[in-house]
Amino acid sequence: MHDPLVDDGVIRKLWIGEAGLYRDHLLRLDMASRNSRFGGAVADDFIAGYVNTTFGLNAIVHGFFVDGVLRGAAELRPLGPTFAREAEAALSIEQAWQSHGVGSALLDRTLLAARNRGIRMLHMACLANNRRMQELARKFAAELTFDFGSVVGEVAAARPTPLSVLREAVADGHGFATAMLDVQSRMLRPI
Ligand SMILES: CC(C)(COP(=O)(O)OP(=O)(O)OC[C@H]1O[C@@H](n2cnc3c(N)ncnc32)[C@H](O)[C@@H]1OP(=O)(O)O)[C@@H](O)C(=O)NCCC(=O)NCCS
Repeated sequence: MHDPLVDDGVIRKLWIGEAGLYRDHLLRLDMASRNSRFGGAVADDFIAGYVNTTFGLNAIVHGFFVDGVLRGAAELRPLGPTFAREAEAALSIEQAWQSHGVGSALLDRTLLAARNRGIRMLHMACLANNRRMQELARKFAAELTFDFGSVVGEVAAARPTPLSVLREAVADGHGFATAMLDVQSRMLRPI
């Protein structure tokens, strides 16, 4: 990937204590993006409650960080024990970072995490007029089939392999090191 906007950023999983970063990112979305993300107009309070639920549900959230600020996110929410092989996925990119490949990179990481957890069905609540999301989905047509207007993506290559698990571990290792540097630089910053 050679887009400077993307190259300037880092993708890594969010930690459990980072719910506030996710909430602030969702609150920063412009109105149109917020509507697309949640399928309609939602209030700030709704977003705060939504994020608390996400982090209480064992969800995996990959974040796209620029200069330590979360500018994009992809959420993978398992549907629970009754639907152990199903999950819901949702993406959000702040306006200035849209159409620069961030959504593609985040969906790629989310699909890898889904695959390694044996998830076969990914639901994506997406408005029928969301062209960009549909184009993005088309790029992953080999791995997903989407049914827009209502929902849905199906993960075809669902079986984890040692290589797919290693890919996720390596990605997390890189992310972890970068996250540690982030924390250190925040601690060292003069007050
Ligand atoms: C939808 C969204 C996640 C896509 O992420 P993104 O980073 O903007 O998308 P990408 O840059 O990875 O582009 C993916 C594909 O969409 C298409 N695309 C990009 N910009 C587009 C535009 N302005 N109009 C139409 N299609 C577009 C391209 O085919 C692109 O693939 P390519 O770059 O290989 O040609 C992001 O725009 C977003 O967060 N929107 C608001 C919230 C939302 O709609 N969430 C989805 C609900 S689950």
